[in-house]
Amino acid sequence: MKDKKQNKQEDEEEKIRFSVIDILQLLSGLLLLNAVLSYFFTSSTTWGYDGKWIDPRYVYFVTTHPFNYPTFTVDEFAKYDGTDPRLPVYVAVNGTAFDVTVNRGMYDAGSRYHFFAGHDCSRVLVNGCLHRPDQFNADLRGLDQKLIDRKLKGWLKYYEHHPRYWVVGTVVQNEGWLDGEPPAVCDDGLEFPGVH
Ligand SMILES: *[C@@H]1O[C@H](CO)[C@@H](O)[C@H](O)[C@H]1NC(C)=O
Repeated sequence: MKDKKQNKQEDEEEKIRFSVIDILQLLSGLLLLNAVLSYFFTSSTTWGYDGKWIDPRYVYFVTTHPFNYPTFTVDEFAKYDGTDPRLPVYVAVNGTAFDVTVNRGMYDAGSRYHFFAGHDCSRVLVNGCLHRPDQFNADLRGLDQKLIDRKLKGWLKYYEHHPRYWVVGTVVQNEGWLDGEPPAVCDDGLEFPGVH
């Protein structure tokens, strides 16, 4: 037989459980009301907001990585090049990796920007040599330092401020990656549209 004290404790627990359920119900009611009102006024359930906070993948990412970003080796990072539909799509600029999955169609195999996905392509972002596969890497040797700073700053700003992209970590190059010859000089690159 249970003693009085234990009964009382169970009652208390029951009460707490009920109040948690009450609060959750209240919150979901408010969220629903919010969505209905928003839809009434803006024809969107989020008051016209279309940023990453409505992406469950982003909410999951920030709640699971509150204080630290993962690092990727070059080989690990290469998996996120859009060829595997089960994996997100990442690009990296100057070592900082961004989730660009929302525009997966742009980066899929066969798409225009496929070669940017799954690796750090700082070099081609600086010199614009999109027609040269050997320029899609992070090797900045031989490039003008002023151009490097200007272009990388511009691209970082672009990815950081994009409403649907977010930082997912850092790409770390393999040890000794700069031991060989630098990629061949390319001076007939394009000025990228829209980003300076
Ligand atoms: C790129 O990375 C290097 C070294 O990690 C850093 O010194 C430089 O300031 C970065 N450039 C930009 C534009 O953030």
